Amino acid sequence: MTITEIQKQFAADTASVTNRASLEQVRIKYLGKKGLLAGVFAAVTSVPPEKRKEFGLQVNALKTDITRAIDELNQKADSNSKEKYDPFYRSLPGIKPAVGHLHIITQAIREITEIFKPLGFTRVRYPEIDWEYFAFEALNMPSTHPARDEFETFFIDAPPHPDFGRVVITPHTSSGQVREMLKGDLPIRMLNISRCGRPQEDVNHNPTFFQFEGLVIDKGISIAHLIGVVDYFAKHFFSPDRQIRLRPYDFRFTEPSFEIDISCGLCLGKGCKFCKEGWTELGGAGMVHPKVLKAGKIDPTIYTGFAFGWGVERTYMMKSGTKIDDIRHLLNNDLKFLEQF
Ligand code: FA5
Repeated sequence: MTITEIQKQFAADTASVTNRASLEQVRIKYLGKKGLLAGVFAAVTSVPPEKRKEFGLQVNALKTDITRAIDELNQKADSNSKEKYDPFYRSLPGIKPAVGHLHIITQAIREITEIFKPLGFTRVRYPEIDWEYFAFEALNMPSTHPARDEFETFFIDAPPHPDFGRVVITPHTSSGQVREMLKGDLPIRMLNISRCGRPQEDVNHNPTFFQFEGLVIDKGISIAHLIGVVDYFAKHFFSPDRQIRLRPYDFRFTEPSFEIDISCGLCLGKGCKFCKEGWTELGGAGMVHPKVLKAGKIDPTIYTGFAFGWGVERTYMMKSGTKIDDIRHLLNNDLKFLEQF
């Protein structure tokens, strides 16, 4: 084809272009590797040498014209097209964003709070770093008493208070008991859930863990109320077929004191290698000692009360189905572990 023929043909072809696809066909026909212009360029060698320069100039001009015309048509298509360039490939399956969930201890704390709510327990918070007085002395545990040895304690390197003693990381939530009483707002139905610390670490102990502490003080409160509340909790948190039992114990801040056991979730009380003859220990409880009531400026001849304090982690681990065999998993924050819940 001559240059003039190509020009005419191109004008005819572009006049019939209706969409991008047909424009692309035109582009390939003229500018493609095996297109008409490539053929014309290849024919340069057959042109007599004296006419080659002019022929070359004409072919280059033709290529420039065709390229520009196709570009313009493309731009027109862009501004008319509803299907403008879209970097979002709708046909590809999306990437699902990872959705996390609350840590299982946070879930357990919320569940515990909800269970106690209908009984009138209000959740409170007290300092997680406190003076020895509230952690021990006010709870009838003077500094020389051997019971203090059981409460292994982290001491903070801070000047001691002249009356309240050294600063400690609270080893138990019972340190909130007298603080709650000193508010002077009776009757009391307190639920203190807080972080505690003890220098311990093994399959059953973490150096930092959570306890939940119930404290009820009113006129006429007896052990029957304590049993009723503990049983209600066990049936709601674990399952209606779980039983509780009280064993005598010796906390200094309660009298009488008990360890509360719950029937084993694996064998349901029959006895298995996980439990002690069908029972596992839930935590401590008892009737508030009169000396503790006095420290809280409450008259023990008028008011009585009960308290209980249990570890959130251990209580959660006792739930049927969780099958957590080492308390340290709850602190390690390994996602492979946490994602299972
Ligand atoms: C106490 O801390 C008492 N204050 C409980 C109490 C409150 C008794 C009110 C009477 C009245 P104990 O030291 O047994 O008691 O701890 C209670 C629970 O905290 C234990 O049963 C366990 O569940 C949890 N716990 C204690 N130490 C650790 C630890 N290092 N790691 C994880 N959980 C722990």
